[in-house]
Amino acid sequence: MTSVLITGIRELATNDATHPGPDDHRDPTGLLGLVDNAAVVLEGSTIAWVGPASSAPAADTVYDAGGRAVIPGYVDSHSHLVFSGDRAQEFAARMTGEPYSAGGIRTTVADTRAASDEQLMSHVARLVAEMRAQGTTSLEIKSGYGLTVHDEARSLAVARHFTEDTTFLGAHVVPADTTPEDYVDLVTGPMLTAAAPHARWIDVFCEDGAFDVDQARAILAAGTDNGLRGRLHANQLTYGAGVQLAAELGLVAVDHCTYLADDDVSALADSGTIATLLPGVEFSTRHPYPDARALIDAGVRVAIASDCNPGSCFTSSMALCIALAVREMRMSPAEALHAATAMGAAALDRDDVGVIAPGKRADLVLLDAPSYLHLAYRPGVPLVAGVWQGGRPVAPLV
Ligand code: NIG
Ligand code: FE
Repeated sequence: MTSVLITGIRELATNDATHPGPDDHRDPTGLLGLVDNAAVVLEGSTIAWVGPASSAPAADTVYDAGGRAVIPGYVDSHSHLVFSGDRAQEFAARMTGEPYSAGGIRTTVADTRAASDEQLMSHVARLVAEMRAQGTTSLEIKSGYGLTVHDEARSLAVARHFTEDTTFLGAHVVPADTTPEDYVDLVTGPMLTAAAPHARWIDVFCEDGAFDVDQARAILAAGTDNGLRGRLHANQLTYGAGVQLAAELGLVAVDHCTYLADDDVSALADSGTIATLLPGVEFSTRHPYPDARALIDAGVRVAIASDCNPGSCFTSSMALCIALAVREMRMSPAEALHAATAMGAAALDRDDVGVIAPGKRADLVLLDAPSYLHLAYRPGVPLVAGVWQGGRPVAPLV
């Protein structure tokens, strides 16, 4: 097995709290386990050693980071990459006053059904490559733009080529040609049977215009009976009971959490369910940003993800999400990076990624910057100078 010593790292964010970290403004609470003047040794696909460059062991090859920063690869725990077509005109209409509504999903459903397997596959491959080049090394992908037994199963089969973290979202919206009752029967019956072999998770869009809390409860229960684990889209467009349901069921994560009542916040704090915030959605729909600061201060665990999809948010950039989380949701830069990496991994119940420590998968991002702070300090600037995924350089190291 070949080993690689990455040295000359000006600042390494490990997410490993055993590193005491510097005493300055970069990470006042020690969340990121920063190590200055650091080195990392990769052995095959895993991390073998982390520490000060001055005491690094020898390795087969050496890469000099030249005084730049290294962070863990992003873990994007929420995306909808299996689709065809785009809705740029819907976005333009929104920016001139139209509201966002769940119904727009049906436009993408028609385009997705019309696409061939090969077209879907190459489209997802292009988006995954786009993400990887921006530092995302782990991701979740949902179905939800097929909404027939065949189209949901093939969407998940396509997603499985790119990640183990695939999510069955047959309950995205009720298709135009059926009733809600019949559709829930389909989702919990034949569609679930066809989807389950390709999925790890099951999700429901619990919202006005999509599925109510009783339907969501029934769909999640059916998923659990078929070996899938639940997650939920909730409280995105309105206040509602979705977040409470997620907390009651002890789901690992509930996503969006834009409209939260005080009871929702305390339920999340008590259950430990992660609130996955998706700031790109608020950016792209002109809804108010959730107050991550209030959530964190109340003891809620917070992750951030892209929600990359053609309707409510078509960004694949976790760096943009970090900048928005810092500026608009009152997260500290350290909390935002942690939420996009270690907490994304927690939201997928993964302990092999999101942390730079011995034994973890060698997923690292080299930034063209002296500190991770530049992710929010220099918003919109492409700062990724290289990416290692499972120990392999997958984006040019410059
Ligand atoms: O996460 N909220 C539901 N689903 C997606 C949007 C889907 C769409 O508009 O196409 C979301 O925002
Ligand atoms: Fe989503």
